[in-house]
Amino acid sequence: MIAKQLLPALAAIGSVAAKSATTCTVSTTTINSQADATGLASCSAVKGSVLIAPGAGPQIDISGPSTISGDVILLNNGIITSLTSSNLGTIGGEFHLQNVTLLSTLSFMGLGRVGSIVWQSLPALGQLTFGTPGVTEANNVTISDTFLSSLDGIDLTHVSSMDINNNRRLTDFTTQLGNVSSLLNIAANGLQLKVSMPNLIWITEMSIANVTSFSVPSLAVVNGSARFDFNYFSSFNAPNLTTAKTEDISFVGNPNLANITMPELTSIGGGLLIANNTALSKVNGFPALKTVGGAVKLRGNFTDIEFPALNDVKGAFDISSTADISSSCNTFQKLAPSSQGGGGQIQGTYSCTSNNANANSDTGTGTSGSGSGGSSSGSNNTAAGLTINHALLGLAAVGGFAQALW
Ligand SMILES: *[C@@H]1O[C@H](CO)[C@@H](O)[C@H](O)[C@H]1NC(C)=O
Ligand SMILES: *[C@@H]1O[C@H](CO)[C@@H](O)[C@H](O)[C@H]1NC(C)=O
Ligand SMILES: *[C@@H]1O[C@H](CO)[C@@H](O)[C@H](O)[C@H]1NC(C)=O
Ligand SMILES: *[C@@H]1O[C@H](CO)[C@@H](O)[C@H](O)[C@H]1NC(C)=O
Ligand SMILES: *[C@@H]1O[C@H](CO)[C@@H](O)[C@H](O)[C@H]1NC(C)=O
Ligand SMILES: *[C@@H]1O[C@H](CO)[C@@H](O)[C@H](O)[C@H]1NC(C)=O
Ligand SMILES: *[C@@H]1O[C@H](CO)[C@@H](O)[C@H](O)[C@H]1NC(C)=O
Ligand SMILES: *[C@@H]1O[C@H](CO)[C@@H](O)[C@H](O)[C@H]1NC(C)=O
Ligand SMILES: *[C@@H]1O[C@H](CO)[C@@H](O)[C@H](O)[C@H]1NC(C)=O
Ligand SMILES: *[C@@H]1O[C@H](CO)[C@@H](O)[C@H](O)[C@H]1NC(C)=O
Repeated sequence: MIAKQLLPALAAIGSVAAKSATTCTVSTTTINSQADATGLASCSAVKGSVLIAPGAGPQIDISGPSTISGDVILLNNGIITSLTSSNLGTIGGEFHLQNVTLLSTLSFMGLGRVGSIVWQSLPALGQLTFGTPGVTEANNVTISDTFLSSLDGIDLTHVSSMDINNNRRLTDFTTQLGNVSSLLNIAANGLQLKVSMPNLIWITEMSIANVTSFSVPSLAVVNGSARFDFNYFSSFNAPNLTTAKTEDISFVGNPNLANITMPELTSIGGGLLIANNTALSKVNGFPALKTVGGAVKLRGNFTDIEFPALNDVKGAFDISSTADISSSCNTFQKLAPSSQGGGGQIQGTYSCTSNNANANSDTGTGTSGSGSGGSSSGSNNTAAGLTINHALLGLAAVGGFAQALW
């Protein structure tokens, strides 16, 4: 219906402006068939959006315009197998593909700039046919629930947010990203996913789950928070990380993790949470950590915990192990609040317990520990506690939704 109105409009624009490069102005043009797509071929640019209808297909080629200023949208289409353009270079708005079950060819050899990529529930899409380097500019990227085994063709140096989840065949993600100004979420992809970000220098929020290896040799600053849940790596090293400026660093439920090393980390604006990483017996990779703006909460099978430079914890200091850590406790007792007999470097409640069989069952960010034995004046435990990130909770919901579409 919309297309019928628009095709004459396009034709009219074409005849008026035939001499020069033709910009076709539409609000949204709907493509129901290849004939509609061919109607666009004479436009060198489209000012507006292109909607590919649920009934369009099986092959749609939108070659012609080199720029589409608005969105390119293809939703809920169970027919189309191939969407292509040989020369489209820029999509100003969203490149949104969702619930397109048979789409197996996505060929955009000229595409370099996209406002946002939103690709969700594309179970037949096994590869991208993009140029080299491909898309080098995009503000936000969501790639969820696809059959992609590689993201070659997307080569960004900076991005606002990037969410890569539930791509079960994805086993390698190597990116030149230098900074992420809002959020990087990686979760529930291939079980052997190796993530390598050799150029990443700063990032705001980062949530990494279910990855097998993770490399950030240049990471210097986490402006917000970094959390690592249910990963399979045995060692985590952030050799250049100096600070998490405002929020938490957390490692929860990483069953193989035996070594966390952040040799240059001096301050955490929020809290430090390390819980239920049962292979981690020593926490001794924080030689420079001096200041923690929130709480320190550690739960696990520890035998030894060391924070040799620690002298300012604004929140609680709450440590509990399944094993005997009494010699570590003796050291930290000296930093406890004066009301608990220490020097006051720890301003919240101090608690340190050994031989707590249930140590690993408490992975929450609150500091109301199950541990007994340590003293507790108990008043301001949560005041400077670890923070909860609503943006990350939102992304978890997106992942769940994507899974439900399978
Ligand atoms: C996905 O698209 C199919 C058509 O191919 C449609 O029947 C189905 O309702 C869509 N699913 C959702 C969750 O929108
Ligand atoms: C990109 O994501 C950020 C944070 O999620 C959001 O504030 C912003 O509006 C998004 N930008 C676009 C162009 O979608
Ligand atoms: C983010 O990274 C890009 C590409 O590396 C760079 O041009 C830009 O200056 C960086 N922005 C900041 C604020 O560091
Ligand atoms: C994050 O911190 C780095 C280094 O201090 C800074 O260059 C960058 O602008 C900050 N980014 C944001 C979004 O605040
Ligand atoms: C992936 O990580 C999530 C936590 O973000 C966890 O709930 C889930 O069980 C993990 N899946 C696997 C297969 O490890
Ligand atoms: C680590 O930081 C130092 C000092 O800022 C810098 O010279 C070095 O290149 C960084 N290393 C990496 C791998 O980025
Ligand atoms: C832990 O990892 C760091 C950095 O990779 C390494 O230097 C150190 O030897 C490791 N420690 C153990 C006990 O494996
Ligand atoms: C961690 O401690 C629990 C409780 O004592 C124990 O059941 C579990 O086997 C320990 N795990 C490891 C890897 O040591
Ligand atoms: C602790 O981690 C194991 C996986 O190593 C997981 O099965 C268990 O549910 C986790 N416990 C809590 C309380 O998160
Ligand atoms: C608890 O926190 C409140 C508000 O931050 C503060 O006024 C009060 O003095 C604190 N109490 C103790 C016992 O630290």
